[in-house]
Amino acid sequence: MGSPRIKGNTDLLLDEALKGAQSQEAETEKIILDKLKIAPCREYYGCLKDGNCVIRDDMDDIYPKLLDVDAIIVASPIFFYTVSAQVLAFISRCQALWARKYILKNLDIPLRKGAFIAVGATRGEKLFDGPKLTMKYFFKAINAEYHDELLIRGVDKRGEIKEHPTALNEAFELGKRLLVG
Ligand SMILES: Cc1cc2nc3c(=O)[nH]c(=O)nc-3n(C[C@H](O)[C@H](O)[C@H](O)COP(=O)(O)O)c2cc1C
Repeated sequence: MGSPRIKGNTDLLLDEALKGAQSQEAETEKIILDKLKIAPCREYYGCLKDGNCVIRDDMDDIYPKLLDVDAIIVASPIFFYTVSAQVLAFISRCQALWARKYILKNLDIPLRKGAFIAVGATRGEKLFDGPKLTMKYFFKAINAEYHDELLIRGVDKRGEIKEHPTALNEAFELGKRLLVG
């Protein structure tokens, strides 16, 4: 969960998606990035040697989970036409897995499913172009396919997503599809 706003639009959408996944007997865990200490990549390049990041912070707990999951949903508000800084910091630290996959060639895990949920206030046609590219290459780096997405425009105030005619339902269905699709 990449929004700093608890019970905000991203948070509510993700909760529905997780309920959808749980409806198919999935075991789920929600990680609220804003509550964790995750520094952005500092380009120490330790990961190129052994696939491990040299920075010690809350990513230590996330790496093993990332390697273990069958699917990952990244949910973020759109900030300045990209994902939130919290999500960008987290993604940049996944360079360690990128290094395992492409440099060390020892990212020995099956291809997983990735889904992207995003919500922005405006309605521009290109609103999600940038973040979608980011997510596509993030998923690729951690050995996941860009399997599904839910991109919601025109929602701004905290909890306003509840007034959207279809979004919460669509989020539930996305979560379900991750298991059955
Ligand atoms: C710093 C900041 C930057 C934002 N930039 C954009 C933007 O580029 N495009 C857009 O459509 N909405 C933008 N918004 C609006 C949020 O995407 C919108 O309020 C969203 O519903 C927030 O989701 P949340 O409740 O999950 O945090 C921005 C909001 C903030 C606080």
